[in-house]
Order: sequence, then C-alpha cells, then structure tokens
Amino acid sequence: MSKLYLIGAGPGDPELLTVKAVRLLKECDVVLYDRLVSAEVLRLARPDAERIYVGKHEGEQEITQQKIFDLILHHTRLGKVVGRLKGGDPLVFGRGAEEWALALEHGIEVELAPGISSAVAVPGLANIPLTYRGVSRSFAVATAHCQEDREQDWACYAHVDTLVVLMGVKNREFVARSLIAAGRRPDEPVAFIERATLQDEKVVESTLGAVAAGEVEAVSPAVFVIGEVVRLRERLSNQLRATTNFASR
Ligand SMILES: C[S@@+](CC[C@H](N)C(=O)[O-])C[C@H]1O[C@@H](n2cnc3c(N)ncnc32)[C@H](O)[C@@H]1O
Repeated sequence: MSKLYLIGAGPGDPELLTVKAVRLLKECDVVLYDRLVSAEVLRLARPDAERIYVGKHEGEQEITQQKIFDLILHHTRLGKVVGRLKGGDPLVFGRGAEEWALALEHGIEVELAPGISSAVAVPGLANIPLTYRGVSRSFAVATAHCQEDREQDWACYAHVDTLVVLMGVKNREFVARSLIAAGRRPDEPVAFIERATLQDEKVVESTLGAVAAGEVEAVSPAVFVIGEVVRLRERLSNQLRATTNFASR
C-alpha cells in the first residue's frame, strides 16, 4: 500500500523536530516541503530523496493546493513513500488534514508525525510563557490570514488572557483595532517574534494601542503575542535563558 507521511518540521531549529519526524523523514523517497521548512531540517532527508518545493517565493504565486494533491497522488501511485513536510505542526493552519483526507480517499495509508507548533514554542523560546500563575490562566491561537480576517470574530478573544495570532503581520492594525473595540486594553503589551529560531530572529515589543495606530513595524513570518505575559520576558531572560540553535531558511 502506498504511503503518505505528514511530518511536522517545527519552527526551524532541527533540534525541535520529534524523534518520529526524523525517523519518517529518513524513510521518504519524495519530500514535498513548504516555505517555512528550514534548510537544516530538509537536510535530514535521505540524500537520494527527491525534494520538491511547494511553497511560495517572495512575489511568486503560491503553488495551488490542487497541484500539491496531484503531486501526492502521482508519487504515491509510483509506489514511493511521500513525505509532506510542513512548518510547525501539519494540522495547525497547515491544511495537513485536507491532504490526509485526500490520501485516504485514494487508498493511501497516512501516518502523522506531529510537530512543535510555532504558536506554542515560539513565545516560550522568546521567554514569553503562554500561562503563568496569577497572570494568565488561558490562551488561544487564532489566524489573521487575509482571506479570513473579515470573518474572524475577534470579539471572542477579548477575554482570553493570552492571545497568539499566526499569519498576523499583514493585518496587524485591523486585528489590534478589532481587539480594542472588543474590550482589550490599548496599553496591553504585545510582541512580534519574527523568524524565530533562525539566524535573523528578532523580537519587537510594543502595546496593542500602538499596533492599532499603525506605529509598529513587523516582518513576516512572525508570531504575534498579546497579553500581560509579555511583561515577563525581561525577567525570564535573566533567569531562564532559552537556548536555541539557529537554523537557516
Ligand atoms: C501557515 S501558518 C503555519 C503554522 C504552523 N503549522 C505551525 O504550527 O507553526 C504560518 C505562520 O506560522 C508562524 N510561524 C511559523 N514558523 C515561524 C517562525 N519560525 N517564526 C515566526 N513565526 C512562525 C507565522 O505566524 C506564520 O505566518
């Protein structure tokens, strides 16, 4: 039976891969990989494995999902083990479940290696815990992807202690304004953690009000964290320095 492995590549640093992800990656004959997969992670595939980029370069049209489906079907029909390598966790805003469903419809066996999602790992690596006794007892993860931003009900995130927004750079002003309109405080601290675990990682700290006013520059990809936990960053930076091996992408 032909096989599709859905493999989570984590945020970039190869040390953030699971043991299972590395094992499955080494079994692949063909690896279809996304833009947010680092070169170091990709290097862990077998040297003779065919590597096919299915992400988007700056200014280029993204390869369509249908083309990705076609590639999966084509290579699995040839009897190859196909790895679908996605940044973070394949099932967190990664369309991994759609590829999983398609594979099953075509009689392809699917195995999942969950990945460490940027939503959870990236704030921590920047010394921002998502929860902290007396500061944050809840967190939520939302997308601000442009096709969905008008449909996203930001009001339902008004009372979550810590809010993590993925794909939130482009629409950051709209997101911040919507959250303030829904009751979040303009002086609430926020952070954009850009290109986390990569050599040019950068953290931009500000307030929700400044983001809403268009005063905060941020570069994609970034994890946008909103909440009082951001204030813990300085304290934890001095006490528990999170160590990362920088990867390239
Ligand atoms: C299409 S979503 C995929 C999320 C992924 N499946 C995950 O679980 O992390 C892409 C978004 O993830 C975030 N992201 C992923 N890797 C990142 C990194 N190394 N640094 C900062 N943000 C990252 C950014 O918000 C980016 O726009």
